[in-house]
Amino acid sequence: MKRNPIDVFDEWADLDKDFGMEKNHKSSVEQMLVCALDKKGPYTFIDAGCGNGWVVKSVARKPLCKQAIGVDGSKKMIQKAMKLDPSGYYICADLMSWIPKKKVDIVHSMEVFYYLENPEKMIQKIFDSWLKKKGRLLLGVDFYFENKVSHNWSESCGISNMKLFSEKEWISFFNTAGFRSIKSWQVGRLKNWSGTLVISGIK
Ligand SMILES: C[S@@+](CC[C@H](N)C(=O)[O-])C[C@H]1O[C@@H](n2cnc3c(N)ncnc32)[C@H](O)[C@@H]1O
Repeated sequence: MKRNPIDVFDEWADLDKDFGMEKNHKSSVEQMLVCALDKKGPYTFIDAGCGNGWVVKSVARKPLCKQAIGVDGSKKMIQKAMKLDPSGYYICADLMSWIPKKKVDIVHSMEVFYYLENPEKMIQKIFDSWLKKKGRLLLGVDFYFENKVSHNWSESCGISNMKLFSEKEWISFFNTAGFRSIKSWQVGRLKNWSGTLVISGIK
């Protein structure tokens, strides 16, 4: 039987599977962040679906980062993030309903958006209510149409409601929301693995 993503990720936090995600996503995230963090001035940052907070912990320590916030719907992931990074800023909330008090310069998210109730609406909400003008949204997904080996993940992980979109569909969500300078590319390609699909857009 399939379960909802938050229940599964609560369990994964208990089973320390968050460390496996960190290990598996690290190289893609490092490559993704190069374009976002290549800034001359100070910036503020949100990791949407931050898991155990490993990205927030690293970005918050960069000299130009003025504030890094991690948001995740799993209470257990957030408890773990606060334990691993006691000085970090973490919030437990459903991304679809949460809004930051102040708009930020960069919203990053790795392997999260296809779990959301309405990814297209979320991208619009980030454009309208999360990002400052000229701010950047940077999404990474491994579960997408062109990455054929990912197609059975909903069954193999027992997670309900995973949405399989193509690169073209993700780009169209950014376009509809009003983003400009939209770019998409794949990092970490291997034989039989299309890599992490990265989509970036500027408000
Ligand atoms: C595959 S994990 C990725 C975690 C982290 N980005 C990483 O790379 O290690 C997906 C995360 O998204 C969170 N998530 C899924 N749906 C969510 C929602 N509606 N609101 C907030 N967080 C959500 C889960 O709790 C989980 O921590």
